[in-house]
Amino acid sequence: MVQPGCLGGDNREMSIHSAAVWPELVALNADQVDLSLVDRFVADPQRAESLSFALGDLWVDVAKHPIDAATLDLLFRLAKQRGVPKFFAAMTSGEVVNQTEGRPALHTALRASANAVIEVDGVNVVPGVQDTLEQLASFTDALRDGKVLGATGHAIRAVVSLGIGGSHLGPAMAAEALAEFSGDLEVRWAANLDRADLTQALAGLDPASTLIVVCSKTFTTAETLAAAEQARAWLFAGVGDEVSAHLAAATAFPERAVTWGVSSDRVFAFPEWVGGRFSLASSVSLGLMAAIGAERFGEMLAGMRLVDDQVAAEERSVPVLLGLLDVWHRQVRGAASRAVVPYSHALRRFPDHLQQLEMESLGKSVSVDGRPVEGPTGAVIWGAAGTDAQHAFFQLLHQGPEVVPVDFIGFAQPAGGVNDALMANLLAQAEALAFGRSEQEVAATGVSPALVPHRTFAGGRPSTVILAQRLTPSVLGQLVALYEHRTVTAAVLWGINPFDQWGVELGKQLAVRIADELSDPESSPNHDGSTNSLMARYREWRNPS
Ligand code: F6P
Repeated sequence: MVQPGCLGGDNREMSIHSAAVWPELVALNADQVDLSLVDRFVADPQRAESLSFALGDLWVDVAKHPIDAATLDLLFRLAKQRGVPKFFAAMTSGEVVNQTEGRPALHTALRASANAVIEVDGVNVVPGVQDTLEQLASFTDALRDGKVLGATGHAIRAVVSLGIGGSHLGPAMAAEALAEFSGDLEVRWAANLDRADLTQALAGLDPASTLIVVCSKTFTTAETLAAAEQARAWLFAGVGDEVSAHLAAATAFPERAVTWGVSSDRVFAFPEWVGGRFSLASSVSLGLMAAIGAERFGEMLAGMRLVDDQVAAEERSVPVLLGLLDVWHRQVRGAASRAVVPYSHALRRFPDHLQQLEMESLGKSVSVDGRPVEGPTGAVIWGAAGTDAQHAFFQLLHQGPEVVPVDFIGFAQPAGGVNDALMANLLAQAEALAFGRSEQEVAATGVSPALVPHRTFAGGRPSTVILAQRLTPSVLGQLVALYEHRTVTAAVLWGINPFDQWGVELGKQLAVRIADELSDPESSPNHDGSTNSLMARYREWRNPS
């Protein structure tokens, strides 16, 4: 088995702090702690060029981080010592890299070229992936052409995709991001256990012309199955017994979907070795493919592949660089969170997708061998679209006591049309965070002395700027794959497994128990005093007499 952080490096089974290069990294940071970004730019006029990188159609500028060529050399040495390149080779060739669940993590196979050979247990998985893609394409083509008929003979004109977490966040984000490429089908999404979410998604739709797609890798997730039941009842009320004409599913367990009531030719399977939050390229994106069409979906996969190929070919790839910077900010500079701010209304749900991708992957305290990780791991990821975010949380970014690295993402031709003011805001925020405004500068503007401290900006706040010309399907694929590989890089550096999520289990189990107790008026809950008392209050308020 292949272990993150322990593969092929010179520090097998040791923590990131034991990597030979670690003390040098820490020492370099200490040496440069007083070196401002202003000083760095003055000292090196070529800084922007040497710290900006092309990745496919993306332009990635890390010049506003407190780093230089020496930092990069040390970071890439760290990646090698922690086995990052070898881990990616093992991951993409189908080795078991998800140790705690005993399987590969082969999301890259979902977007591999059709003639690639990737074997799991001696069997090439690529032909199976291509077959599913073709089935999805022919079904969604028929949907888009109005050739899929419901129980009463009406053409399906609306698709409602049910799912949660990885079976929802990525595809729903992508459908919004690529809305300008959508066709005539109405495609909606619902996730929340609160029935209001699905009720809202179904509002105004006619069951006779609606397809419900149940997306669940396990087909056991409580939220999704509850929504599926709610949707099925809505269909039944509208079209009667023949509801299966209005159902489809995406799952790694097709037999469970069939048992639930989806006809087998409408079940689009994907392998268990695709992690939920890495599954955008899988059949959970049926709704997305229905919206944008198979050709555009193929372009998105090609964009992902382009990034996969860079990570495979280059040890100093951009995704690995960003993963290294994330770990460095977290461990060496103590940044507890990172904000992601797309200056794009279309990409406004990208932070939501990244929250699951990064926090479910990196929110761990033990390494793959079960030992505590030294120091902090994954940062809190948060964000919202600019410029809205500027009027919500940027005050904290500029003047709060903690430094929060920011990812700015922008487009020269956003969906709403070329908009210099939008780009100006992105660039201005990055500049203001990096260089601030000194007390002297503020005082020189005639501000009263009492207000000078309030109007001073410390600066030195790092950001990455990612630019692209336009948010096409390919560019979206590149962005998603960039963040996936960045996340895996950080996990490998820390020696943790990015592909499991045991941390969500305990709450789920307790919820089942509490739900049973709440529904049984005779039960006398035996939890802690706080939970018991809250349950009593809930019961009292649930059915007021
Ligand atoms: O949140 C836990 C989780 O297991 C995620 O990892 C997953 O994406 C989500 O639930 C949904 O799971 P499923 O696709 O099996 O319904």
